[in-house]
Amino acid sequence: MNDDLRRAVRQVLPGVRTDLDALVRIPSVSAAPGSVEQVRRSAEMTARLFKDAGAPDVEILDDIEDGLPAVLARYPAPPGQPTVLLYAHHDVQPAGSPGQWSSPPFEPTERDGRLYGRGAADDKAGIAAHLAALRAYSGRPPVGVTVLVEGEEEIGSPNLGTFLARHKDKLDADVIVLADADNLTTGTPCLTTALRGMAACVVELRALEGGVHSGSYGGGVPDALTALCRLLATLHDEQGNVAVEGLATAVPPGAPVSEAGFRAEAGLLEGVQLLGSGSIAERIWAKPAATVLGIDAPPVATASPTLTPVARAKVGLRVAPGDDALKARKALAGHLRHHTPWGLQVTVVEAEVAQPFVIDARGPAFDAARRAYGEAYGNDVVDIGSGGSIPFVAEFADAYPQAAILIASAGADADSRAHGADESLNLADFERACLAETLLLAELTRSG
Ligand code: BES
Ligand code: MN
Ligand code: MN
Repeated sequence: MNDDLRRAVRQVLPGVRTDLDALVRIPSVSAAPGSVEQVRRSAEMTARLFKDAGAPDVEILDDIEDGLPAVLARYPAPPGQPTVLLYAHHDVQPAGSPGQWSSPPFEPTERDGRLYGRGAADDKAGIAAHLAALRAYSGRPPVGVTVLVEGEEEIGSPNLGTFLARHKDKLDADVIVLADADNLTTGTPCLTTALRGMAACVVELRALEGGVHSGSYGGGVPDALTALCRLLATLHDEQGNVAVEGLATAVPPGAPVSEAGFRAEAGLLEGVQLLGSGSIAERIWAKPAATVLGIDAPPVATASPTLTPVARAKVGLRVAPGDDALKARKALAGHLRHHTPWGLQVTVVEAEVAQPFVIDARGPAFDAARRAYGEAYGNDVVDIGSGGSIPFVAEFADAYPQAAILIASAGADADSRAHGADESLNLADFERACLAETLLLAELTRSG
C-alpha cells in the first residue's frame, strides 16, 4: 500500500514542481494595495489547479468587502470516513529590495537542492504539497478533504472572523493539517505544537507645532524623534528581555535548538550578542519578543539641522503561547503611553493581533501523523514550537474545538529565510512532505 503511494507521489512530483514554479511567478503580495490583481490571479491559478486535480467543488471566496480571495476545494468524504482540512495561504510578503536577492524574487530558481523565490517556502509549497497528495490519489482521496488556501494570512487575516462565520458549514473537519511551519533540521519531520501570537501598535509622538532650527531651540526643547528613541529603548531591559509588564511566559516544547546553528541561520554578524536570557527554545518559542518594525522620521539623506515635530513607530510584539494577545496589545499600548518622556503628546493606535496557540499533541490523529511523517522522512517526528504566528489556528480551534490540529512543514526549514531576501524551499524535504501528506490521508481513514 505504502509502496503504491510512494510510486504515485514520485509520479506526480514533476508536475507539482512545475505548478509550484508557476505559483511563485505570481507576486501575490497581500500587503501591497497595488497587488490586488496579482492576489486574484494566484487565487485563480490555485482554484484551477485543484479543479484539475479532481475536486468536484471549487470556489473562490471573495464576498467580503476589502477582503482578499481565498480558495476552497472540496472532495466529499467516502461513507463513514472523516474529513480533513488542508490549509495553506497563497499570499506572500513583499519582496523587499530586489538588489538583496541573488536571483529575482518572482523568478523561481533552483540552486543546490533549494528553490529560491518569494513564497517558495512560505507558503506556496504548502499549496503544492496538498496538490501532490490529491494528485497521488487521482483526485479521489480515501477521506473527505477540504482544501482552504487563504489570501490574507501575511497581513494578519483581518477578515477571518467574518470568513469563518460565513462559511462555517463548509469548513467543518475532524482533522486540520497546516503546511505552513518549519522543520528544525533537514530530514527531520517536525510537528509544531506551540505558536506564538502577535500584537502590534503604532505610536505617534508630537513635540512641536512645526520644525524649528536645531541651533536656536536644541537643548531647550525636545524633538519628537529623540523622544521616540528614548521611548523605544524602554521596551527591553539591559539584557534584551522584554520590559513590558503583564506579559506571560510559557514552557517551550522539548526539542533543543543549538545556539551555533541558530546564530548561523539568523545570519548574525561577528560579535553581535544574542538577545534576552534563557535557552534558545525559550527565547523564540516561549517568551514574548518586542521589535521596532518601522519608523516614520526624516531620512538621513535629506536630514536637516531641524528639530522634528512629529515621529511615529510601529512596534510588534510576539506573544507567548497561552497568553492573550488582546491583553498583551493593551499592555504594550499602556507601556508606550506611560513611558513617553518629557510630556510629549502621544497617540497609540492598536494594530494587528493574532492569538497564540498551544496544542495537546496526543490522540489518534497525532499518532497517525507521527506514523506518516516518520515513514516519509525515515526519521522520528519531533515536537517543536514556532516563534511565528498563524492567526487561523486559534480562530479555527474556537469554531471547531473537537478538531485535531496538525501543523507541519512543506519543506520550509531553518535556512528558508521566509519574509527575507533569498527565501528558499528545501526540495528534498518538500518531496518528503508531499509523501507524508499522502500517507497521512491513508492513516486517517477509519477502518472497520
Ligand atoms: N508561516 C508563517 C508563520 C510561521 C513562521 C510558522 C515560522 C512557523 C514558523 C506565516 O506565514 C506568518 O508569517 N505569519 C505572520 C502572521 C502575522 C502577520 C499576524 C507572522 O508570524 O508574522
Ligand atoms: Mn506562512
Ligand atoms: Mn509568512
